[in-house]
Amino acid sequence: AALGTNISAWWILTANSFMQHPTGYVLQGGRALMADFFALITNPNIPYQFTHVLTGGIALAGFVVLAFSAWHLLKGREKALFQTMFRWGARYALIGSLLVGIIGHFQGQFVLQMQPLKMAAAEAHWETAQPAAFLVVAIPNERAKANSFEIRIPYVLSFLSYNNPTARVEGIKDLEKAAIARYGPGNYIPPVALNFYAFRIMVLAGLLMVLLALLAVVYRNPEKRPGFLKLLLWAPILPYLAGTTGWIMAEVGRWPWIVYGLLRIEDAISPNVSAGSIIFSLTVLTVLYTVLSVLAFRLAIKAGAGEAAAAGQVAEAY
Ligand code: HEM
Repeated sequence: AALGTNISAWWILTANSFMQHPTGYVLQGGRALMADFFALITNPNIPYQFTHVLTGGIALAGFVVLAFSAWHLLKGREKALFQTMFRWGARYALIGSLLVGIIGHFQGQFVLQMQPLKMAAAEAHWETAQPAAFLVVAIPNERAKANSFEIRIPYVLSFLSYNNPTARVEGIKDLEKAAIARYGPGNYIPPVALNFYAFRIMVLAGLLMVLLALLAVVYRNPEKRPGFLKLLLWAPILPYLAGTTGWIMAEVGRWPWIVYGLLRIEDAISPNVSAGSIIFSLTVLTVLYTVLSVLAFRLAIKAGAGEAAAAGQVAEAY
């Protein structure tokens, strides 16, 4: 099942990589046709995107195992078993969290080459600067094309972008002019505030994940730290939050393109699918998945309670 899921993820991300950075096609009469299957499956975006998503999944799995073992340790159940489970969950969470962050950094440098406006929006970097400062916090004002508030760290954006603290980093305004010159008139600036905050939330969640996983690896007797165990019960929220904000950045930041540089959102809208039918199918899917999630949780809790009761009976018999 794990192998099948990973292969499936690889194909989905191959399709998404075509939308981010189209390869292996020819244009015939305004239609993009596949001309080179090998170029399609060796899209240079795939290694970054696939490994980023995969290691994010590894981190999530580690945090779920940590949360479950923390729960049982708090209840004082089967100490030796859940201590072992805790240790493995901690190692898994730490490796996943470190790798997802490191890969994310190099992915950011690749996205800067592939879709410079996405990265400039994610950094709320309006004016070209050399050297460029990193904004820890900002309030982007999209109408004024400027930030109304900034907390900056000098040189860091240049270094993160090009491994050189004094490199020139193009700003949104200059990149917009270049896009108009290349693709014709239009609005090429992605929603800056949404991209900026989505990126910041993903990175902050990633850093907190590294910190929590590191503490979980280092602490020798986690059962003696109930406060930390209680914190870990909520920790799986972090990788979920990072994954969701990551997708928001990847998809919203591609504005105004469905397929980057080839097909605009306005040209990809199906005229015979109404807004009403989209809302209807989204509602049905949301309700269906919510019901399935509640059922899955109830079954898991019931099975867990059954096992705990059985374990208690075995212990009593001895
Ligand atoms: C800690 C530092 C991190 C950095 C520097 C980083 C960087 C990035 C970048 C640049 C993108 C946009 C890629 C694109 O538009 O094509 C992205 C997307 C994404 N990120 Fe992160 N990320 C980090 C942490 C995380 C964490 C902790 C998770 C989840 C556990 C995560 C999950 C995702 C997902 C699911 C996407 C969308 C798919 C993709 O394009 O790869 N990221 N990340």
